[in-house]
Amino acid sequence: MSHTMVIFGASGDLTSRKLIPALYRQFQRGRLPKNSRIVGVARSPYTSEQWREQLAESTAKFVKNDFNPETWAAFAAQVYYQPGDISVEADFPKLAAFLEQIEESKPTDRTYYLSTMPQLYATAIEQMGKAGLNDDTVGHRRVVIEKPFGTDLATAQSLNESIHKTFREDQIYRIDHYLGKETVQNILVLRFGNTIFEPIWNRNYVDHVQITVAEEVQVGRRGGYYDQSGVLRDMFQNHLFQLMMVTAMEAPVRYTGEFVRDEKVKVLQAVRPYHGSDFSENGVRGQYQGYLDEEGVPDNSPTETFAALKFYIDNWRWRGVPFYLRSGKGMSCRTTQIVIQFREPPHLLFGEQKSYRPEANRLVIQIQPAEGVQLYFQSKVPDSDMRMRLSELDFRFDSSGRELPDAYQRLLLDAMLGDPGLFARSDEVEQAWRIMDPIIAAWRSPAAPQLFQYEAGMWGPGECSEWMSKQGRSWFDICPVML
Ligand code: BG6
Repeated sequence: MSHTMVIFGASGDLTSRKLIPALYRQFQRGRLPKNSRIVGVARSPYTSEQWREQLAESTAKFVKNDFNPETWAAFAAQVYYQPGDISVEADFPKLAAFLEQIEESKPTDRTYYLSTMPQLYATAIEQMGKAGLNDDTVGHRRVVIEKPFGTDLATAQSLNESIHKTFREDQIYRIDHYLGKETVQNILVLRFGNTIFEPIWNRNYVDHVQITVAEEVQVGRRGGYYDQSGVLRDMFQNHLFQLMMVTAMEAPVRYTGEFVRDEKVKVLQAVRPYHGSDFSENGVRGQYQGYLDEEGVPDNSPTETFAALKFYIDNWRWRGVPFYLRSGKGMSCRTTQIVIQFREPPHLLFGEQKSYRPEANRLVIQIQPAEGVQLYFQSKVPDSDMRMRLSELDFRFDSSGRELPDAYQRLLLDAMLGDPGLFARSDEVEQAWRIMDPIIAAWRSPAAPQLFQYEAGMWGPGECSEWMSKQGRSWFDICPVML
């Protein structure tokens, strides 16, 4: 069946930087459903032709060598623009009529993509319902919702409630672009497509897990948004939790959207809630020096641009194994990595001195930018007695040096084809807020732990390393080596 993708917030940055390039690349690869159309909706009074011209320029910039004028012309012929204001009820019937017209009143599947300001999600959906845009008797109707999904549990619940008045849960696709990353999906293949890892992927062999999302960039022009959100809302409640879920989940009975999401949400359900002193002892807060001078940030802002948190997942597999999650802006380098730190061998067979003592094994899953997996293990120093050294098996996801597909490519296609597995379900999003809300509240209260300053270009505040060493552990602060 033919397909129409309707993008609300069409004049925004996400549309030109991510959505259109992703759709163009999928078109180029012949993967979009036959007779796909793209309709942009925003307040600016463009014509379709004007919007196409703008998109030609931005897409050429973002897809670089993939840009081909002939392919673009074929793609752009299916791109339309319809001016519309979400707060104006009358604009929705107009949109409905426009869609009917370009679809020639033939049965067509539709995906509505909300790439607007989050405050407009509920209104947009209500208006869509009133204009009958949710009527799925003549084709599928799905709605894709960008993050942030609420700013706490109460707002997420109320957003879920209002969306459910217009769309069923199986029609709602909540985006977390981390799930669209090839290397995040590869964690499932690594764990469940091999037999050698799963038997040791538990409390008997794993000492702890570190999940780091470090960003070299600072908040830049996003100060106004960022200061309201801070690293806990911006990165932990969504991206870091997604990484923790795929690392810790049980194998689903089958690889289908619902079974995978069932297992993921169980991880969050098993996260031990913080009580009393946990709020100050189980984490470290930081703010990079110079954050207060950023545009849109108040002079006395207490917002953290860095956080490290320790979680326990209380189930048979993970009881007692700390999961350390950390993320920050203004860090040494851009790297997203998961370190599975195994236990030390139980017996020192070769001697007590340093060069005879084995270092514990470590599996490092590099999500980006040097996508790959490294396994660290001991080997004998050649021509020595029984001295040992740490050696490495290094797998690079794509050694050809080609860029991996952007996360949005996969996610947009999955939404169009009706595969919800890589999208967050309502219970998952709410459970994530249930964990984060008390931490955010405690970190905003007068009893909040100290906010440590750190110099941009470091691995967060030095106090974070001290916090780790007090627990007899250390961070793996390693910038990825690009080939
Ligand atoms: C976004 C956050 O969701 O993810 C940004 O709002 C952050 O602050 C970005 O920079 C990180 O995404 P990626 O794919 O570059 O790791």
